Amino acid sequence: MVELVMKRLLRMCGRSRHNGYTLWEQKHKPMLRLLEELKRRGVDLGGLRTLEIFGRDGLDHTTTYAREVKSLEVWEINPKWHSDLVKNLPDASIRIVDSYEELGRSKSKFEFIVVDNAIGDLGAHCDHFDLFPDSIFKVTSDESLLVLNIIPRIHSKTLKHFPDLLDTKYLAARKSFYAADDPMNIPVDQIVGAYRSFIEKNNYRLVWSHHQNRSGAGVDYLALKIKKN
Ligand SMILES: C[S@@+](CC[C@H](N)C(=O)[O-])C[C@H]1O[C@@H](n2cnc3c(N)ncnc32)[C@H](O)[C@@H]1O
Repeated sequence: MVELVMKRLLRMCGRSRHNGYTLWEQKHKPMLRLLEELKRRGVDLGGLRTLEIFGRDGLDHTTTYAREVKSLEVWEINPKWHSDLVKNLPDASIRIVDSYEELGRSKSKFEFIVVDNAIGDLGAHCDHFDLFPDSIFKVTSDESLLVLNIIPRIHSKTLKHFPDLLDTKYLAARKSFYAADDPMNIPVDQIVGAYRSFIEKNNYRLVWSHHQNRSGAGVDYLALKIKKN
């Protein structure tokens, strides 16, 4: 009997929704937790022109915030994702482009830029390192919020998901990009410091940063609020 009541309660908790999400999703979905934190810091998502710079099908986290932002543009290099993007993000403007090249062409400005790169050495590019020192600032507004994937520590779970991260070329790129002593383990402060120096070189200042665990695999979110000098 007790077991039956417990099961019903659990089912009810899972189903009851707030803002369209179940309680479980609100607690565990990393992008939802990040949005809550942004709102707590006074960010008005409804006023943000938004760019998801690496789109795939949008299901990892883009669909989670799409309804909350003022407008959404999604860039993706692989045409096979176009129909899924249109289906999953019906109100977004979908562009099949090489994001690195598009940064050179685009005249648009965005207040919210989400950089959900694939992880590791991809041949042409490594993580999102080539968006710096200056490319990404071609589409930032007077005040923008950048959200990046960072990997402070490469540990066993990270390697289970991304075995290629032990690649010597990848580790050397991390070491150089973050000016790190040990590319396997880079303190978050040092990671933030590396972005701060790019931000300042582009005539912005870092207003605040927020680091949040994204998955157990060591890939985290880093949110950076920047303002033009
Ligand atoms: C981690 S997935 C993005 C997941 C997505 N943000 C979501 O919410 O589901 C990374 C995507 O970046 C795309 N990509 C890789 N290089 C790219 C480039 N140069 N320009 C645009 N997209 C690229 C890949 O095809 C892949 O679909």
